[in-house]
Amino acid sequence: MARIGIVRERPGETRVAASPTTVGKIRALGYDVSVEGGAGAASSFPDAAYTAAGAAIATRDEAWGADVVLSVAAPTDAEIALLQPGATLVGILSPALSPDLLAALAARGVTALAMDAVPRISRAQSMDVLSSMANIAGYRAVVEAANEFGRFFTGQVTAAGKVPPAKVLVAGAGVAGLAAIGAASSLGAIVRATDPRPEVADQVASIGGTYLEVVVPDEQKEVSADGYAKATSAAYDAAAAKLYSDQAADVDIVITTALIPGRAAPRLLTAADVAAMKPGSVIVDMAAGQGGNVEGSVAGQRIVTDGGVIILGYTDLAGRLPQQASQLYGTNLVNLLALLTPGKDGQLAIDDTDVVQRAVTVTRDGAVTWPPPPVHVSAAPTTPGTDAAASTPAKAPKKGLSAAAKTGLIVAGVAALFLVCAVAPAPLPQHILVLTLSVVIGFYVIGKVAHALHTPLMSVTNAISGIIVVGAMSQIVVPNPVVQVLAALAVLLASINIFGGFAVTRRMLAMFQKGDQK
Ligand code: NAI
Repeated sequence: MARIGIVRERPGETRVAASPTTVGKIRALGYDVSVEGGAGAASSFPDAAYTAAGAAIATRDEAWGADVVLSVAAPTDAEIALLQPGATLVGILSPALSPDLLAALAARGVTALAMDAVPRISRAQSMDVLSSMANIAGYRAVVEAANEFGRFFTGQVTAAGKVPPAKVLVAGAGVAGLAAIGAASSLGAIVRATDPRPEVADQVASIGGTYLEVVVPDEQKEVSADGYAKATSAAYDAAAAKLYSDQAADVDIVITTALIPGRAAPRLLTAADVAAMKPGSVIVDMAAGQGGNVEGSVAGQRIVTDGGVIILGYTDLAGRLPQQASQLYGTNLVNLLALLTPGKDGQLAIDDTDVVQRAVTVTRDGAVTWPPPPVHVSAAPTTPGTDAAASTPAKAPKKGLSAAAKTGLIVAGVAALFLVCAVAPAPLPQHILVLTLSVVIGFYVIGKVAHALHTPLMSVTNAISGIIVVGAMSQIVVPNPVVQVLAALAVLLASINIFGGFAVTRRMLAMFQKGDQK
């Protein structure tokens, strides 16, 4: 049975690699757990809570000397020296930026697993540390902005006057951006968002934001091959620059999260845009650590411009919610350990043929194994007619009928209707007309109902079965046993349809209610 060490992070890192809850889950995988004394202090997890969860409190040497060491930050040289040759280290190692670290770990004979190298594919979502941290950071960016902003986010009508809602622009609607949009709109602000990937438009709308499209008519729109964006074109950047200038003059808060992996952060707001913002406006540049989306932001700093605009370049936003971040990071680690411990026997078994395990393994058997072979997965729906998709932003269009073909079909349909009505005996033409009109009206009405409302629509249409119940009840009095049985069956089945529809709708609506509203 292998021993897992949870180390105390260096000063400044508030997170810890395991919470008492995740310690219990690691033990359920068959491992012994040693937690360095005080490791969870900054996350409000006392040593006693770890002990209660079944961990042993250990010294620094014992924790770093475990078979498997779980950490948040990358180790220093002194910490690498504490690792046992043959041990496994799991942490946020930034392998692309740390060739020296990887070389040192390989030289020490340590197998290193980088949690920030988990590929962005559905199967690996439960281990995706970058996403879980970006989610927290996006929320916290809004909290930091609200803390600095001198007004309400929500609009109010008070006895002392009317308060307008704050206007928030979120640039980049990836994980952090969507979390920021959700947090800002739940505080009551008017939220707008931009992103070169048009497929995010629906997601932005679903959490209360308005997607601002950067109109680039002649450009192939971005379709992500790996869940991340590609560099934007000069045409896109020029159109976006105009949009940002217009928005900067209008909004109160800007939160920028634009990222293209492997590149410096794209510059979105210029100094002139910042100068155009109202005094007291707040910018949170979440990409400040990667060079900044905003001219004038400084990594880790709070800057106030001459025009009174506050620019926050904090790079530790997730760590500012240490307990939450540790809990989610710890859960990501448990999910990885579960994958690496198929026998639940406390024995780590890394399978190089598994795409996720291969991707996170950055050193093994004394060799650097970074970078892994690329993982291809499309985050956008695959549609035929990609050329046509280039010119339509919000959704890739389906290849439909041409206008002439549609007109031809309509003319043919109307002619066929007239022909049938002309030859059919009365009262059939009247019924056929009503049926045709119902089909046409139904097609347009249902086609215009938003997807989110299809479930309530279903229960309403099921309720139309009530007409069957009424008809069957009027027949049930007929003194013919066959008719009576059929009528009873009709009442039963139609009732199931009606009440079942409402029951399903109720269950689905309950999913969208917060706990105490249920
Ligand atoms: P993500 O990859 O999920 O999202 C980035 C988004 O930016 C994508 O939707 C992409 O399409 C968009 N984008 C790319 N180029 C753009 C452009 N020119 N204009 C507008 N949008 C553009 O990344 P995630 O995980 O949401 O992280 C976002 C940023 O936040 C990263 O820079 C990350 O390093 C940073 N971050 C900062 C933290 C902090 O404490 N400050 C903590 C966690 C993440």
